[in-house]
Amino acid sequence: MHSFQPMDLSYFNDNPFRLIGKDWMLITAEKDNDVNTMTASWGGMGVMWGKDIVLIAVRESRYTKEFIDGSSTFSLSFFNPDDIKIKEALAFLGTVSGRNENKIKKANMKINYHIDEQNIETPFIDEASMVLICRKMFAQKITKDSFIVPEIDKWYKDEDYHTLYIAEIQTMLAR
Ligand SMILES: Cc1cc2nc3c(=O)[nH]c(=O)nc-3n(C[C@H](O)[C@H](O)[C@H](O)COP(=O)(O)O)c2cc1C
Repeated sequence: MHSFQPMDLSYFNDNPFRLIGKDWMLITAEKDNDVNTMTASWGGMGVMWGKDIVLIAVRESRYTKEFIDGSSTFSLSFFNPDDIKIKEALAFLGTVSGRNENKIKKANMKINYHIDEQNIETPFIDEASMVLICRKMFAQKITKDSFIVPEIDKWYKDEDYHTLYIAEIQTMLAR
């Protein structure tokens, strides 16, 4: 396999609705020399504060949230959607918590690192076909008083609210 190369975002041609919502992604971050990852299918891509950004939504209960909060960066790893084994691994990483087991190893995935000019190390998943290295800019927990339509309520019966993170896309890596 070719090694990862940084690519200009002008080469990004994917449909974000399919990429995030249907193919899924892994959110990976490091804290205290430990790494955790989780599957996500909610999020977005766009432009904010003059930057190309991603938006992710992470519930309070996720162990990965502690890693995202404990680091200035995180990565989003995207995979070949036709690889059944990878899809199974993504389903596994989105069901089991890293609190209870070494799920990355169990999923047969390897951690790779991107190191930026400021020597900030960001872990990502080596089996990915495309990776976005993201620098956190904004985080806000969703609260009920911001709901405009009642249909949102059904997602929070257990009050396990998402925190929305907006992060600048620092680097796109592709093989
Ligand atoms: C397809 C799929 C999509 C998911 N999307 C999200 C998401 O966008 N946000 C979230 O908080 N949890 C999401 N989850 C749930 C987490 O991946 C799951 O709770 C995971 O086990 C958390 O692992 P952790 O405790 O090691 O962080 C998703 C799960 C699956 C299977």
